[in-house]
Amino acid sequence: MNHDYFIKSAKKQEKWRLQEAINLLPSENITSNQVRSLLSSDFGHRYTLPVNAMWSGDFLENSYRGTRITTEIEEAAEKLACEVFRGRHAIVQPLSGHVAAMIVILSMSRKGDLICSVPVENGGYDGYEEGYIPDIFSLRSTGLPFDSRSHNLKYDEATKMIRKKKPSLVILGASFILFPYDIEAIRGACEDVGASLVYDGSHVLGLIAGGEFQKPLSEGAEVLYGSTHKSFFGPQGGLIVYDSDDLDSSLRKNLTWRIMDNAHWNRIAALGQTLMEMKRFGKDYARQVVKNARRFGKELVGRGFPIMYEDLGFTRSHQLLIDRKIVRKKYHLSVNDLSIKLEKSDLIIDSVGRIGLAEITRLGMKEKDLPELADLFIEACDGNNVLKKVKGLRNRFGIEYTF
Ligand SMILES: Cc1ncc(COP(=O)(O)O)c(C=O)c1O
Repeated sequence: MNHDYFIKSAKKQEKWRLQEAINLLPSENITSNQVRSLLSSDFGHRYTLPVNAMWSGDFLENSYRGTRITTEIEEAAEKLACEVFRGRHAIVQPLSGHVAAMIVILSMSRKGDLICSVPVENGGYDGYEEGYIPDIFSLRSTGLPFDSRSHNLKYDEATKMIRKKKPSLVILGASFILFPYDIEAIRGACEDVGASLVYDGSHVLGLIAGGEFQKPLSEGAEVLYGSTHKSFFGPQGGLIVYDSDDLDSSLRKNLTWRIMDNAHWNRIAALGQTLMEMKRFGKDYARQVVKNARRFGKELVGRGFPIMYEDLGFTRSHQLLIDRKIVRKKYHLSVNDLSIKLEKSDLIIDSVGRIGLAEITRLGMKEKDLPELADLFIEACDGNNVLKKVKGLRNRFGIEYTF
């Protein structure tokens, strides 16, 4: 392998994924140039203990020196996260949404407790299934009753289940997420049995930041946490926002030397910059993401492509769900095979039937651009190679919602 192998690979990747391909994965987004430059800054070489790092309830002495600016940027990023998500406390160190989930779950449950979340078969996050996070912390886990027709919880049944099974933790949020949850509808049951109610906003964090989708903390969730790189257009990582002072001590205690040691300070600087972008441009961005998602659903269905939940306006998030059964009938393909076919034309979707409109919104696409994108999508599904046309469309856009 040549010494410049990785440099050349990054160049190839950037030419392809940043200049030629159109990304419709709901789990991804792109960062601004300022955020990218912060990711390669000196912060990425350094150690410090997080501000307010705790051990057994006591603040830890910082054993590192040269940390003056690192400490400042961490405090600034936490302050911005509190403003953007309207919480009293924020933790910006988690290395990913999964790590944020581990810190929250560890802090809000004890060995043997039951946790409830959206079932994986209805689009819930795999990490909450038996065998994954619950196993590590010796917890039991079960799914909340879910109604496929509305792609939402069955609230009456969920309330009864919470009262009967008395979980210690109820987690809302999912990997396939189209519509807001009725947090108030289950909050009472959680309070009655002493269960904590938390919100995994990994997918919809950018929408929440911009005031779309829902406001989990003011609607009754105790904690909002998630990934910072899906609809939230930041560096890959995680964050946690909440109000309670007691929770602040236990989350910080479980963070340092239990789930993590050093955080990635370049990522935290980049996250701070993204929070500034969100504060300034988030409202327009989030509104446009939802408009684009709904419009793209309409354009695809108008061309005979099966997108679910047309009767409910398709979505209120950045995601659309493909009707896999109809795809199989119409194209004689699984969604996985369809995604491989689309990738030949540099149209990137995932293999599980989701389409995400967050990244194309960040590029600056608006509703008027979506008939053209839908035409290319359908042509590619029909087996025509539209590589050049996809590149042509991609090249007309840059990056928006940045300083
Ligand atoms: C709902 C949900 N929670 C948590 C995660 C984990 O996030 P990350 O990949 O940032 O660790 C995901 C990942 O896709 C997710 O969909």
